Amino acid sequence: MDVFATYSIKGGVGKTAAAVNLAYLAAEQGLPTLLCDLDPQGSASFLLRVKPKVRGGGKGLVRRKRPVLDAIKATDFTNLDLLPADFSFRHLDLALDALKHPTRRLAQIIEPLAEEYELVIFDCAPGISLVSEAVFGAARTLLVPIVPSTLSVRTLDQLNAFLADQPSPKPDVVAFFSLVDQRRRLHREVVESLPVDHTVLEAVIPAASEVERMGVERAPVAAFAPSSRGARGYAALWAELQPRLRRPIS
Ligand SMILES: Nc1ncnc2c1ncn2[C@@H]1O[C@H](COP(=O)(O)OP(=O)(O)O)[C@@H](O)[C@H]1O
Ligand SMILES: [Mg+2]
Repeated sequence: MDVFATYSIKGGVGKTAAAVNLAYLAAEQGLPTLLCDLDPQGSASFLLRVKPKVRGGGKGLVRRKRPVLDAIKATDFTNLDLLPADFSFRHLDLALDALKHPTRRLAQIIEPLAEEYELVIFDCAPGISLVSEAVFGAARTLLVPIVPSTLSVRTLDQLNAFLADQPSPKPDVVAFFSLVDQRRRLHREVVESLPVDHTVLEAVIPAASEVERMGVERAPVAAFAPSSRGARGYAALWAELQPRLRRPIS
């Protein structure tokens, strides 16, 4: 089982859109995939038409009151399951803080799922909190969307600096450009001047209306607009990530 997380200190950069689309593409390729929604807003749960209701709430999950498998829901898509989030997840930090080794807990929660899933993707809430640290303890790869602005690139530097001080094992940071508008000169300039000291993928997710429409269709973009620019962007992103999988698809 491999573990990715879409993560950024910033909100509204396309974390959830990437998590949902990548999880869908992995599942479509035959990988049993679990998307874990960690955001109290429950956007990933909403986009995959799963009720954001978790028995026992975030606290129950963190305290491992019942098997994690009981909280997992099937989606409309083969091979793709979801661990939904509800509003109680706003207190995940508090629940983690009550534990002796909070940053290990997410890894422990998903450990029993290794038999069931080939890929787990955490869709994180923005910010840097104890939950984020628990994600850093559980994920092997952090996928960080960056919108083409200096501020966004700066948050990537902040993340790298933070991780540099963390104990191992720590995740690889893999960034990609998101919400790119090729008509805007600044966007083109930032994308073209790929910072050499970061791992930035070549695939670029364009700002595209069909990606926005996911909120209306409540489905991954490839499921309703397979040949659109948005769908092609996520396909390129997934293609670039595949060789990084612990067990690359043959
Ligand atoms: N590539 C894109 N093109 C157009 N709109 C996008 C794109 N990616 C995300 N959005 C829209 O931007 C908003 C934030 O995206 P989301 O994936 O929820 O970001 P995050 O999870 O980082 O907060 C949503 O309304 C979403 O529909
Ligand atoms: Mg989100």
